[in-house]
Amino acid sequence: MPALVLLGAQWGDEGKGKATDLLGGSVDYVVRYQGGNNAGHTVVVGDQKYALHLLPSGILSPGCTPVIGNGVVVDPSVLLSELSGLNERGVDTSKLLISGNAHIITPYNVTVDKVTERFLGKRKIGTTGRGIGPTYADKINRVGIRVQDLYDESILSQKVEAALDAKNQILTKLYNRRAIAADQVVEELLGYAEKIKPYVADTVLVLNQALEDDKVVLFEGGQGTLLDIDHGTYPFVTSSNPTAGGACTGAGVGPTKISRVIGILKAYTTRVGAGPFPTELFDADGEALRRIGGERGVTTGRDRRCGWFDAVIARYATRVNGLTDFFLTKLDVLTGWEEIPVCVAYEIDGKRVEELPYSQSDFHHAKPVYEMLPGWSEDISKAKSFSDLPKNAQNYVKALEEMSGAPISAIGVGPGRDETIEINSFL
Ligand code: GDP
Ligand code: IMO
Ligand code: MG
Repeated sequence: MPALVLLGAQWGDEGKGKATDLLGGSVDYVVRYQGGNNAGHTVVVGDQKYALHLLPSGILSPGCTPVIGNGVVVDPSVLLSELSGLNERGVDTSKLLISGNAHIITPYNVTVDKVTERFLGKRKIGTTGRGIGPTYADKINRVGIRVQDLYDESILSQKVEAALDAKNQILTKLYNRRAIAADQVVEELLGYAEKIKPYVADTVLVLNQALEDDKVVLFEGGQGTLLDIDHGTYPFVTSSNPTAGGACTGAGVGPTKISRVIGILKAYTTRVGAGPFPTELFDADGEALRRIGGERGVTTGRDRRCGWFDAVIARYATRVNGLTDFFLTKLDVLTGWEEIPVCVAYEIDGKRVEELPYSQSDFHHAKPVYEMLPGWSEDISKAKSFSDLPKNAQNYVKALEEMSGAPISAIGVGPGRDETIEINSFL
């Protein structure tokens, strides 16, 4: 049976948590393959609302095994508090598996993230301050700490000392901060080791065996395509690959195993943090989208920047991820607008451009070219099938599908599990 990838098609917060949870009941494994607790995935089950950061959204489906893959960065204190928070609410988390090769977000990585942002001043990225970038930097620089290192005290001490040698020079001499003591970091990390041990596994082996046994594996991306370190709006990105290829490297599963790639696409656009955003609104419409859509960050509580739908970005997401389907979310939020602008192309220095420019300077100058689509005023939150939608809502969806380059196979009309219109089955 198939491996499916589910990922964000825009700048994150498209509704990945809800989509993963919806499929979670029918899949055997849900795997996070990149990012860490910078993610904020909301899942609404009945009258219960869950905010997940590090744990895969499949953790809320009893039959499903949640997996944290090798490509994820793990803050052990966040992991343990997220687990105990769910346990207190009666969620069984005992099936969780964590790759021994996943990297650990250490306290000094969090410090470096915050200090670097402060130092950048007006040029800051607006990171979540969770230590994500510095941890991936240590991984690439080959001075990272991995989950498996927690079980060899001597190796752990050597690695923490090696990492801190250089960092303490920078912290004290460049940033005027106090040096961090290696032995204190080692002691803190060792304090987590036994609590995490029951979950640590060879997840690459487990997942490949599961696929050989015809199990269904769902890879859940954190962040979104435009926040990808290679394909996003660099440098205003996160430090990993949420795009589809990241599922292969971040979980150790070959590309030949992946049969479906589902892009989660919001019916309008949002972004948190700094960086270009051509359709961003600074007027009453932007304020209304924020208010009606509840667009406030799950992780940092920051207001999300809001704007109209951008088909150039959707087409780009289709291309770089090889999307087979879209899951269009939050269509209900657009109810009540007489006309809805949709960005179909950009104007860059007087020229019409249909595709996302590779040049950062061009993208910074991109002005949206809008087409106006007729809106609807009927409540759509109870719609169960495509034909239940008002004609103009149907036409909005069809227009987006045509512009975006992949079929829209599901539509979200509310935050709840059952507030979804299924058009083509994902399984
Ligand atoms: P993620 O990071 O991609 O998982 O998305 P977030 O959870 O950060 O943000 C999406 C928000 O939209 C959450 O509050 C969801 O409960 C909510 N949501 C998801 N799908 C829908 C939908 O179709 N309609 C409405 N109104 N809300 C939705
Ligand atoms: P989910 O999974 C929206 C943004 C941050 C910042 C940039 C880099 O909920 O979609 P980082 O801390 O990752 O180094 O910050 O990426 N960012 C997100 N924006 N949703 C997210 O996750 C995000 N994770 C990171 O705001 O601009
Ligand atoms: Mg989110």
